[in-house]
Amino acid sequence: MGELLQSSLAGLAGRKIAFITENTKMRQRYASKLMFAMAAGFLAFAAAADSPRERLLMDSGWKFHLGDLGFRENIINAGINQGPAGIKFNANAWLSVELPHDWAIELPFDKTANASHGYKPLGPGFPTNSIGWYRKSFSLASDDKGKRLWLEFGGVYRKCQVFLNGYKLTHHEGGYNSFRCDITDVANYGAKNVLAVRVDASEFEGWFYEGAGIYRHVWLVKTAPLAIAPDGVFVYSQFKDNVPRGPAEIHFHTELLNAQDKSAGAKVNWQVLAPDGKVVAEAAGSETVDSWETKEMAGKAKVSAPVLWSPESPKLYRLITTVVSEGQVVDRTETEFGIRTLAFDANEGFLLNGSHYTIKGTCNHQDHAGVGIGLPDALQYFRVAKLKEMGGNAIRTSHNEPAAELVEACDHLGMLVMDETRNFASDPQALANLEQQIRRDRNHPSVFIWSLGNEEPRQRTEADGAIARSMRRLAHKLDPTRRCTFAMSDWSAGKADGISTGLDVQGFNYFNNGEMDAFHRSNPGQPCIGTEEGSGFYTRGIYENTATYKSAFDENYNGNGAPTEKCWGYYVDRPWVGGTFLWTGFDYRGETTPFGWPNISSEFGILDTCGFPKDVFYFYQSWWTTNVVLHLLPHWNWPDKMGQNIDVWCFSNCREVELFLNGLSLGKKEMPRNSHLQWKVKYGPGTLSARGYGADGKEIAATKVETTGAPAGIKLTPDRALIHGDGEDCSVVTAAMTDSQGRVVPTANNMIHFEISGPGKIIGVGNGDPICHEPDVNFAKAEESSAVLKDWRMKEVPDVKERPEVAAEVDDRQWREVDVRGDAGPLQPEEAAVFRTHVSLAAADLEDSQINLNFGMIDDDGWIYVNGKLAGESHDWNEAPSFDVRKFLRVGDNVIAVAVKNHDGPGGVNKGVSLEFEKRTIPADWQRSAFNGLAQVIIQSEAGAGEIQLKASGDGIASAVATIHAGL
Ligand code: GAL
Repeated sequence: MGELLQSSLAGLAGRKIAFITENTKMRQRYASKLMFAMAAGFLAFAAAADSPRERLLMDSGWKFHLGDLGFRENIINAGINQGPAGIKFNANAWLSVELPHDWAIELPFDKTANASHGYKPLGPGFPTNSIGWYRKSFSLASDDKGKRLWLEFGGVYRKCQVFLNGYKLTHHEGGYNSFRCDITDVANYGAKNVLAVRVDASEFEGWFYEGAGIYRHVWLVKTAPLAIAPDGVFVYSQFKDNVPRGPAEIHFHTELLNAQDKSAGAKVNWQVLAPDGKVVAEAAGSETVDSWETKEMAGKAKVSAPVLWSPESPKLYRLITTVVSEGQVVDRTETEFGIRTLAFDANEGFLLNGSHYTIKGTCNHQDHAGVGIGLPDALQYFRVAKLKEMGGNAIRTSHNEPAAELVEACDHLGMLVMDETRNFASDPQALANLEQQIRRDRNHPSVFIWSLGNEEPRQRTEADGAIARSMRRLAHKLDPTRRCTFAMSDWSAGKADGISTGLDVQGFNYFNNGEMDAFHRSNPGQPCIGTEEGSGFYTRGIYENTATYKSAFDENYNGNGAPTEKCWGYYVDRPWVGGTFLWTGFDYRGETTPFGWPNISSEFGILDTCGFPKDVFYFYQSWWTTNVVLHLLPHWNWPDKMGQNIDVWCFSNCREVELFLNGLSLGKKEMPRNSHLQWKVKYGPGTLSARGYGADGKEIAATKVETTGAPAGIKLTPDRALIHGDGEDCSVVTAAMTDSQGRVVPTANNMIHFEISGPGKIIGVGNGDPICHEPDVNFAKAEESSAVLKDWRMKEVPDVKERPEVAAEVDDRQWREVDVRGDAGPLQPEEAAVFRTHVSLAAADLEDSQINLNFGMIDDDGWIYVNGKLAGESHDWNEAPSFDVRKFLRVGDNVIAVAVKNHDGPGGVNKGVSLEFEKRTIPADWQRSAFNGLAQVIIQSEAGAGEIQLKASGDGIASAVATIHAGL
């Protein structure tokens, strides 16, 4: 599995080269990041030589402010020039952040906050923490004029208003849908552009941790005026009778958008590349696209002897769509897809590629330790790989549209996706959201079914049935290849009613919630699937129930659920259901059931919030994989239980297992299928070991747990020791507390300090402890450094043109002293004057790359000179103008002069003047206590190659260093 992940990620890097001639989302991302170092604050890259399309990642160079800043939108006038939405606003003092960003993770835990959302003080009742502003500036070339430009947002939680150059672009409501804004009309060409986003997380959508902020990527897309429309490519395969024999017919649909005043002819060429890169099919068509209209073109071609996609063999084809108009290539995109068949049968369950396929699924929310919902792509791959290691072959994206990058990870690593919507409704907005989701995700081979929702309160009503039918109608229109289900917690034992009447595939949440067998009997033609099951509680490394923890033995579960093996056994006995999705793969923040404070995360996960497996992981591995598995629990460090009986469990798929304490056999037992073995063992320190035997009685596996010594050191293990030096890629490092013999101490909770050097940074830490209130993120602290400019003098002048008084070497000692801090200045209408002051700077002050000269007000027109050089102009008394004057400053005496012309009322330099130095950052002190032996550190590369070194240390224990290579 590790190899599959590594090669999948390596594959992405390898594409940097191929990208010169081709375009894919991932290629663009990695290629574009390479150029990042060259173009500060903006990601640029060479587009495919003969296609004008570019897709640029906008993750870097954002400024963030928590709080609303008294913003009131004027919805009457186009363009806002004041406040944080305006182009001139000075956001230098804001925090520098990179996307993906979740500000909820940065807030402290608060007992008075909402338990479902993980006790973070935002949302209802916490207005000051619930609104945030983001700003980013970027440049566009003059020859971008004439292109169509879009900003694509992967996801923002929750409501947001997006402004470009002060113009409102959109108001977006849902916290999970991707959306895009056309910026063509309001962009500044050949100049700077300012993007401002106001994010409002004051309301919740779900009953789990939902985070806050721009938590997925933002992209800038540039196309020719005649180009493929957004999400305008749909490609799918079909076989005769839906049986994967013989050639596959590949269907191409391309929607063209002609955003210009003339109609235009377009030729579209579709080319299919096999997983080995060979061209295996081609088709073409031509059409005229009317001015300012879209036109859909369709074609098909046959691929003989296709290589099928499946979780076990995730082979991807690529469709290259090329659009030519008037002899020029006007667009070219690359779309990954897979060739495979899907079918659902009332008696045979789910069929993948023509054969019964048991769904071994997990439901998952989107957050991870350390980063909340703002997951770098590498973490999506990390999580999918963990679930595969367990034998999982499907994810249900409960209860919302997933990040596009999660679905990409599932395509590449091999994991089916039940793609769920957040919004079960048929109003125009909800249907538009569903359409967006389907158009975005319908090319992914991993997506095998749409889920229209989860456990709605009125799911048995006729109205809910009608909603389901409306949603399904739209889903079928947009995607004839996939069926729809819904995760129902209440269903009829007789004839289907309510939402069941609007589904292709009946979904069941928990066999305890109703009678599945009776439904099946009463609706014999209806295909079914398990959508949710389990809801077991387990805390990693804990073997007794306490007031905050549930033991990791498979004994505790929520009211709707059942013990793990009972759940899985139920589906094994009913192949017609086609398997199920366990609640949940990973622990998630919030929904602290069955506990309240101090618990801040759930304990439902088979893995904890870091992705460290709990013991029950090995139950699934035993029955979901063909690997030989032998796992003992609990640990063997029980100094307070000398001579007492201890429950010992074994998860294994060996035919028989024999248990030993300190070499003495405690008996051999036959392993019941889809179950576990159990012994009572009188505790004494030493080694508890097991041997596993196969069908022929031969030993095929051995394992042991040992009584360890006290913590003496730390073992650092990066999941990947070689990552891309692209500022995006991550290594997930496990910090394990070890004894003097290097054995992991399963009860160690020591505090570990982390230091990092080289081209990488720590972006989050975690330990999987559901009651740990230590911060997941640590900010480098900013050192305040601004100087108020005092001691101003002024001289009245007849006019402001070419004044000698603004020169550097002017004796101003006899000029009139003036206080520039008031709200009104000394000048009468139509009077002019030069204001001057001096500031002395040291070499250290000039180390900053940006130094701003900030004015409270210049009334009315002002020309600003630094050491005799014109540094800027201001013509709006109502602005607080700011100028980067770094390049005009020098060590020693500096002269600031402002020539001011007043028009009416009192005038002058008012409301204070200051020099603001870039904030200097003091490195953060990263630390995290281990929980039952383990902690996690997530390291992200910075743009550039080199060796990243992570050092871990703790009181009284030996420190450790891990090296991660960042390569280009
Ligand atoms: C289900 C619900 C999940 C989660 C789970 C906890 O009913 O769909 O979102 O709340 O219960 O047991």
